[in-house]
Amino acid sequence: MTKDKLPTATPLTPKKRAILVGASSGIGAALAHRLVDEGYQVALLARRAEMLETLTNEINSKHGETRAIYYIHDVTDYESVPELLKKIISDLGGFDTFIYNAGVSNMVGLKKYDFEKDKITLEVNLLGAMAWLNQVSEIFQNLKKGKIVGISSVAGERGRVGDPAYNTSKAGFSCYLEALRNRLTRYGVHILTVKPGFVQTDMVKEVKKLFWVIPPEQAAADIYKAMQKGKQEIYTPARWRWVMLIIRNIPSFIFRKLTF
Ligand SMILES: NC(=O)c1ccc[n+]([C@@H]2O[C@H](COP(=O)([O-])OP(=O)(O)OC[C@H]3O[C@@H](n4cnc5c(N)ncnc54)[C@H](OP(=O)(O)O)[C@@H]3O)[C@@H](O)[C@H]2O)c1
Repeated sequence: MTKDKLPTATPLTPKKRAILVGASSGIGAALAHRLVDEGYQVALLARRAEMLETLTNEINSKHGETRAIYYIHDVTDYESVPELLKKIISDLGGFDTFIYNAGVSNMVGLKKYDFEKDKITLEVNLLGAMAWLNQVSEIFQNLKKGKIVGISSVAGERGRVGDPAYNTSKAGFSCYLEALRNRLTRYGVHILTVKPGFVQTDMVKEVKKLFWVIPPEQAAADIYKAMQKGKQEIYTPARWRWVMLIIRNIPSFIFRKLTF
């Protein structure tokens, strides 16, 4: 973790504070920059210490003060979450926004099956999210305020031949976020589900046949705008909403013949 102290928030100089899980690269790193540019202090979590350190240094030197701190964390270490969350809250002096962005895609090949890979996909994309969001939801429910953002995917909307475990993890995550929203909305807690299409990050660098690819900064800008507007669900870029409306309605007997 970085040792520098964050500037203290006072009633006259309130600070927006966000915890971002899965911050070391891609959409998470772009979002960290965007949030700090918009006045947030951020706690950045992921496994790769070097990437987190570089990102944190970049942010803090750009702003001339400590606005980001980082914590090395593997989301599959579920038991460590309650203590780590307490530590982060104490370092930040509270928090009002929680973003779960950590995700992996472990493609196994069209004719192959690999439970070990599938298990990791489910653990990172869904169980890690639940380990964090159970804790965060209880805090926000008691505070009667807070914003939760979950980075899911268009891939959660249909089961496709290419990556069944990833589809399943993101379908589960989107459903979990919807259920939390329905619970927590009555306590004034806001939940945003984000469904990106293709974003130019490490995750898709091996994937052929990409289209409508956007840079992570554009995804981050869309996510930030949606947070500001209090949206419940967005697609980034927005045109995926209409594409997915069609894809969701393709009858199964046709969909199963498609090879993507
Ligand atoms: N790129 C796309 O086209 C696309 C499309 C739809 C949805 N998404 C979703 O967007 C999110 C961000 O992905 P990205 O595209 O920006 O790819 P990325 O650059 O690979 O980012 C993935 C992030 O998740 C973190 N992560 C992975 N496993 C983790 C673990 N066990 N513990 C803690 N952190 C972990 C990574 O950090 P460490 O490796 O340092 O731990 C990294 O910060 C993911 O949830 C992904 O499913 C991406």
